[in-house]
Amino acid sequence: MQKQDELKRKAAHCAVELVQSGMVVGLGTGSTTSFAVIRIGERIKSGDLKNIVGIPTSVRTEKLARDLNIPLATLDDQPEIDVTIDGADEVDPELNLIKGGGGALLREKVVAQASQTNIIIVDESKLSACLGTRWALPVEVIPFAAKTEATFLEALGASVKLRSDKNGQPYKTDQNNFILDANFGEMSNPHALAVKLNERAGIIEHGLFLGLASEVIVAAEDDIRHLQRKTK
Ligand code: A5P
Repeated sequence: MQKQDELKRKAAHCAVELVQSGMVVGLGTGSTTSFAVIRIGERIKSGDLKNIVGIPTSVRTEKLARDLNIPLATLDDQPEIDVTIDGADEVDPELNLIKGGGGALLREKVVAQASQTNIIIVDESKLSACLGTRWALPVEVIPFAAKTEATFLEALGASVKLRSDKNGQPYKTDQNNFILDANFGEMSNPHALAVKLNERAGIIEHGLFLGLASEVIVAAEDDIRHLQRKTK
């Protein structure tokens, strides 16, 4: 296993230790979270975890969880989630995040907002002093509005790319929307940017997860850090 994957697995296993029997667990999306889903499956199989219900944030995660015999439910069945484990693309010192590199940002944000606790698992490469330094912001748009919302994002100062799939076609999310990857560079005020994005009818959701992470578990080569969000 590559070193970065080992770190992802380390963070994931650490997070899954916080899951207890009887919990409703939000299952994030991405390579780091996959290690957590696999670990939850192992703990259920061994009898260590009982009466767990998972709420997957993507079709991909749902498939993985089903393959591992993790009992699943929908938000209709379980509108309140005890704990969600998910990854992130970028984490700033206030534990604000950029997410959506894997395209699942909309369901991920819905699940995060329905969760009492959100544990984010990353390797140390995801830490950054300022959001936007390392990752373009994924913005989910309805196909009808893709061009006009790209123009809007450019007017805000971003360079924008329509995400494409491996066949060169526009990438489609689980909701059949498109993703615009908007590179703003360093974001001096992500909160103000989020307000502007939230006002646009064609933008369904964006990858700024502000004030949602309860805790970030960061795996580095020599240690593992638990960063807790400071409540104001
Ligand atoms: C999925 O849409 C994303 O939000 C992921 O959680 C994020 O991209 C992190 O993915 P990796 O764990 O694969 O880096």
